[in-house]
Amino acid sequence: MEREKIKRIVSKHRHEKAAILAILHEIQVEDKQLETESLNYIAQLLKIPVANVYGLATFYSAFSLGKKGDTKIRVCSGISCHINGADEVIEVLKSKFNLEMGETTWDEKFNLEKVHCLGLCSIGPNVAFNMDTYSKLNKERIEMIIEILHKRTGDSK
Ligand code: FES
Repeated sequence: MEREKIKRIVSKHRHEKAAILAILHEIQVEDKQLETESLNYIAQLLKIPVANVYGLATFYSAFSLGKKGDTKIRVCSGISCHINGADEVIEVLKSKFNLEMGETTWDEKFNLEKVHCLGLCSIGPNVAFNMDTYSKLNKERIEMIIEILHKRTGDSK
């Protein structure tokens, strides 16, 4: 992200160190990622160690150091979902979107990531497409959901 934009966001928060999460969030929303250069500049503007900013950016799953897609696909790999067949669901997602975990499609429409829990352990396997979570998934159900999603987004895949 351009330095001027970062400066504007940090100034909006009056250079408050306590606003670091809000600042990171705004930059993430606007730029769909947190670039290393941006983190360095934020640290410089807030006069805090780069390691602190980097630590926060990598700790919270809401932040990403790489570009995210318009639709963020979060698949649960927690123990309950794993036992109930998450691996099969993950393989379908990887194959249908031609993505590995952590990757984003070339057109920035989708990105795929693993999470440790979506809070719906008893009805897994679970996958969230942005804010919409689907449960009790298996190969057939996830294929059907992906097909509907492609129709909705106008993607012919
Ligand atoms: S383990 Fe998958 S939702 Fe909790």
